[in-house]
Amino acid sequence: MKDIYTLGIESSCDETSVAIVKNGREIMANVIDTQIPIHEKYGGVVPEIASRNHIEAISRVTKKALEEAKISLEQIDAVTPTYGPGLVGALLVGLSYAKALSFAMNKPLVGVNHIQGHIAANYITYKELEPPFLCVMMSGGNTQIIHVKNYTEFEVLGKTRDDAIGEAFDKVARVVGLGYPGGPKVDKLAQEGEPTIDLPKTHFENMDFSFSGIKTAVINLHHKNPEINKADLCASFEKTVTEILIENVNRAVQLTNMKTIVLAGGVSANSYIRKAFIELKQEGMEIFMPDLKLCTDNAAMIASAGYYNYINGKRDMLDLNAIPNLKL
Ligand code: KG4
Repeated sequence: MKDIYTLGIESSCDETSVAIVKNGREIMANVIDTQIPIHEKYGGVVPEIASRNHIEAISRVTKKALEEAKISLEQIDAVTPTYGPGLVGALLVGLSYAKALSFAMNKPLVGVNHIQGHIAANYITYKELEPPFLCVMMSGGNTQIIHVKNYTEFEVLGKTRDDAIGEAFDKVARVVGLGYPGGPKVDKLAQEGEPTIDLPKTHFENMDFSFSGIKTAVINLHHKNPEINKADLCASFEKTVTEILIENVNRAVQLTNMKTIVLAGGVSANSYIRKAFIELKQEGMEIFMPDLKLCTDNAAMIASAGYYNYINGKRDMLDLNAIPNLKL
């Protein structure tokens, strides 16, 4: 069978990334140009600045990806950009560039949902992994438990009603003075602390999440007592959010009878969360988590998801628009 090469383009937030992936599973190139140093001084991503920097980076990053993959645009089978969810201006840069490439090279345009991309990061990490499975999607913009029925069909079983888990990590980091992006910094500091502080958990009848209560509790504790042990606070926060995740996963397992759990999204890089999920293997669950460098935004995962959309017959027209709140 002929090999299929997809060219993924990711620009939904503060990473400009272009990747070439073979048959949905093998990375030929995955170039990531991060804007973290640019946004660091503002304490978070500034949308307009993100868009401008994507414009500046996109051609250079694409050229580099093609060079690294040692492949020409003629050999690409489909151009597969992220078209949502994300920051609209940022999304539009990658999507418009993809449309231009698709038109100029006469190649199919196949849009990818960013969340579907995060799930697909696991197909690159584990060549043997196939749906169906349960996915715990935890990123800066989303927290969901998803029943992945096949490569292109999903059912959201539970989702956050307020903040995403990554947002809560970033906020906690900011409050205790760790800076942006906070997740990795909380992860590091928590390793020096003990989870001795009681923090609230919000429960719902279904598998929804809420992280605003625990976020506010951490903020209040810190404001009332600025001398509080920050490492213990971070460790307690991590432990509590992990318990919340696992409680909902257990409910999803009971409901669906599925025991294959796949982690996805930037927060799945968290060392405490990874360890806690690995321990679930003792309860007979199969656990998969993306390679660390594929947890956060990258175009390889988008090219992988794009491959599955492409072989499933999805084709988009040049009027494909960026959808900031695109659902699975
Ligand atoms: O998936 P991602 O790169 O972007 C979205 O698609 O939203 O996720 C970014 C989020 C940020 O909130 C960041 O702080 C968090 O992932 N993150 C982490 C870690 N690494 C990244 N959170 C906790 N522990 C980490 N090690």
